[in-house]
Amino acid sequence: MKFALVTGGAAGIGAAIANALLGKGYRVAVADANAQAVHDFGPSAASQHVTAHHCDVSDGDAVTSLFDALGAAPDLVVNNAGIVRFGPLADIAIADFRRVVEVNLMGVFAVTSEAVRRMLPRGSGHVVSLTSINAYGPGPGSGAYPATKSAVLQLMRQFAMEYGPQGLRFNSIAPGFIDGGMSTPIYADPAVRAVRSAGVPLGRLGLPEDIANAVCFLDSAEGGYINGHDLVVDGGVTHAVLKNLPRTNG
Ligand SMILES: NC(=O)c1ccc[n+]([C@@H]2O[C@H](COP(=O)([O-])OP(=O)(O)OC[C@H]3O[C@@H](n4cnc5c(N)ncnc54)[C@H](O)[C@@H]3O)[C@@H](O)[C@H]2O)c1
Repeated sequence: MKFALVTGGAAGIGAAIANALLGKGYRVAVADANAQAVHDFGPSAASQHVTAHHCDVSDGDAVTSLFDALGAAPDLVVNNAGIVRFGPLADIAIADFRRVVEVNLMGVFAVTSEAVRRMLPRGSGHVVSLTSINAYGPGPGSGAYPATKSAVLQLMRQFAMEYGPQGLRFNSIAPGFIDGGMSTPIYADPAVRAVRSAGVPLGRLGLPEDIANAVCFLDSAEGGYINGHDLVVDGGVTHAVLKNLPRTNG
């Protein structure tokens, strides 16, 4: 039975990933900074193969304690925990900008480097980190978020280059417009929902399960030669900037 750790796994996309992995027969540990969500997650997953842990990934000592508590090194680690703080760049307090960097970038580094130290003696393991289509382009009022997601993408490539020879793989997934998780308030507005859905070549918003499916594929035997790759899961929206712009043909 493969063993997976999902950070930020008690809610949103992370919970969908954890549930998909449970469905594929994994044993799953979720780690989340939201104590109440951690408390609620185990019973809601209704599986004897899940444990839930309270951990803030930006706290290096807490991350080490988490891995100690897990015992065995996970076969798969999903760096899903992430936050966003919106506002015009010139108005964002340094403390708010720093917090996004601490969780989205430093947290991924803390978890991944700890995972690598535990996986190396076994000579196998896989880390998948959640980036965003904001790794490729800025978003309205998105503050530090796009910069952290670009950095995570590059960090995974760096890990992939350094530790591939020892049997470890590192990839990332860039979700597009996802109807769930931190974007739930955005899509509660029917007008925003309609405009954004129309901008996606596949004609719909993505679901947390679309991201979970991508995690399962990357970690499958069929995905086993993929390393240092950022898999964009966005219905085609990232490269469809011209979709709704007028053009005269001829
Ligand atoms: N929802 C989207 O539209 C979308 C799009 C692109 C990328 N993403 C990325 O997907 C990932 C999951 O996002 P989501 O939409 O499910 O968000 P969410 O806010 O619904 O869930 C994030 C989870 O991470 C936890 N978390 C936050 N800070 C933490 C910390 N310091 N340590 C441990 N856990 C922490 C939260 O408690 C929460 O359970 C994030 O990395 C996000 O950037 C989301």
